[in-house]
Amino acid sequence: MPPSPVPTVALAHGARMPRLGLGTWPLDDRTVQGVVEQAVGLGYRLVDTAHNYGNERGVGAGLRASGLPREELFVTTKFNKNSHSVRGVRRAAEQSVRRLGVDYLDLLLIHWPNPGRDRYVEAWRGLIELLKAGDVRAIGVSNFKRAHLERLLAETGVAPDVNQIQLDPRLARVQVRAYHAQHDIVTEAWSPLGAGTGLLDDPVIIAIAARHDRTPAQVVLRWHLDLGLVVVPKSASPARLAENIDVFGFTLSDGDIAAISALDRGAAGEAAALDSDTFGH
Ligand SMILES: NC(=O)c1ccc[n+]([C@@H]2O[C@H](COP(=O)([O-])OP(=O)(O)OC[C@H]3O[C@@H](n4cnc5c(N)ncnc54)[C@H](OP(=O)(O)O)[C@@H]3O)[C@@H](O)[C@H]2O)c1
Repeated sequence: MPPSPVPTVALAHGARMPRLGLGTWPLDDRTVQGVVEQAVGLGYRLVDTAHNYGNERGVGAGLRASGLPREELFVTTKFNKNSHSVRGVRRAAEQSVRRLGVDYLDLLLIHWPNPGRDRYVEAWRGLIELLKAGDVRAIGVSNFKRAHLERLLAETGVAPDVNQIQLDPRLARVQVRAYHAQHDIVTEAWSPLGAGTGLLDDPVIIAIAARHDRTPAQVVLRWHLDLGLVVVPKSASPARLAENIDVFGFTLSDGDIAAISALDRGAAGEAAALDSDTFGH
């Protein structure tokens, strides 16, 4: 198999994470297996799943079918709110390991903070224990706002390796990214292509793509990478899987990056997105 073109980023607790990976929601066990196998063949090494996606078995089957040694892969999964306790996190990790058919996880995330339950700090303590025991290589959170992160740091003194949040040029999350940068937290973008909401039809993106002889999706992914983010675009199409990983052979100009960044809707965009103070599973 040819080497992966995807560079890695060093995480705070020592692991290295590919800067681009495969999103797997909403693929089911049956479909995801072939998609994962194809993706690994194209050079993807990071696969993003979750207990909630109901596809960890298929993801694991695809990884095994790829034939690549486990240590060359980077497997991320996430657990739900009913696991928000020290024991619950250990059990969730064991169950994900079993469903995936792997012997360890690279990165385990609290899927949503669910502050109404007020248990995410306990969940975080559970993740810290798994990290100390060497059962996971990196620990993180998803959909955490600055206030949630501040509590983790205040109560445990340990910052996440990663916060996976919804982020694209129209929803650029400037403030939380600045907080991440201060605390050595890697920002990972979910729905990096805007998840079919018209971002790829934006005239600014289309014009820049035409100038570089690239596709709108490639330009958007390059913007994320140029900002230093990790991205997990999802595609079930072989052609688009190949297109989405072919983003390491061109660069955007400072002017291109500024024009794309100017699409940010700021507070209005955040107000329209899912609110992790009230939504979560
Ligand atoms: N942590 C969280 O709470 C959370 C929430 C949501 C998602 N996620 C993760 O983030 C991943 C990505 O997010 P997402 O799937 O919502 O959105 P996305 O990756 O931004 O967009 C996926 C959509 O774009 C299409 N697409 C992919 N590549 C394309 C290309 N080159 N050109 C045109 N269209 C393209 C896909 O269709 P085709 O499949 O037909 O190509 C699919 O409809 C998920 O799969 C999941 O792993 C995490």
